Amino acid sequence: MPTDRAETTLNGKKFAARGTAKNGHPRGHGPRPHSPAQENPAWLFFRRWAANPVSIASITPSAPSLGRLMARHVRREADEIVVEYGGGTGAITRALLESGIPASRLFVIERDKELHAYMAAKFPTVTVLHGDVKDVRSLLPPQYLGKVGTIVCGIPMILIPIEAQRQIIDEAYAVMPQGRQFLAFTYSLRSPLRRQALTLTGKRLGWAMSNIPPAAVWGYTRS
Ligand SMILES: C[S@@+](CC[C@H](N)C(=O)[O-])C[C@H]1O[C@@H](n2cnc3c(N)ncnc32)[C@H](O)[C@@H]1O
Repeated sequence: MPTDRAETTLNGKKFAARGTAKNGHPRGHGPRPHSPAQENPAWLFFRRWAANPVSIASITPSAPSLGRLMARHVRREADEIVVEYGGGTGAITRALLESGIPASRLFVIERDKELHAYMAAKFPTVTVLHGDVKDVRSLLPPQYLGKVGTIVCGIPMILIPIEAQRQIIDEAYAVMPQGRQFLAFTYSLRSPLRRQALTLTGKRLGWAMSNIPPAAVWGYTRS
């Protein structure tokens, strides 16, 4: 018998979808979750990707190995904070917390309203800010301006036009002391940021081969 039932595996997790109801949740999955945190993260991620493929840029959240690779390059000074750009469903956030970064010193900026609501509910001890990373200076509490030790970027920088990249990068380095790193991952073999055009020094720090697709982590500084 013909059916529109589909089983999908995303980042190792299986879920079945029988079409999409008006409320955006898969049909046949019972009532809408009471809290955003109860939603299936793989399905939420996929749904938000379908709604906004350029901004989300991947159909599946990052693998833990990619989060761990990024976490290894994060500074851990007691008077500094870590800012994650584009939390999604928290794959990198989780790795940062598991690596020992205190939740009180982790700030996540997420532009998508539904992903922001999910993150805020899922990580209540982390500060999850709703907005665009280009506004990092006005989003962060003023006492942390100049106290950002590392920016961990999960947004698809390589897909962003150079002028918008420049705005994001200029603002990022405005909140970090000199010499601090902007970490970014990419599925590409080349740098996700145009170093010369953005006056950055940067190099590939490693590969997470078990991510789907394999991803490289790059670290950039600006003098
Ligand atoms: C490729 S996903 C990565 C999600 C998660 N960090 C991971 O690795 O699984 C990109 C995320 O960045 C968010 N995003 C894209 N552009 C953004 C912007 N300008 N400001 C804030 N968030 C943004 C998207 O909504 C999405 O959640």
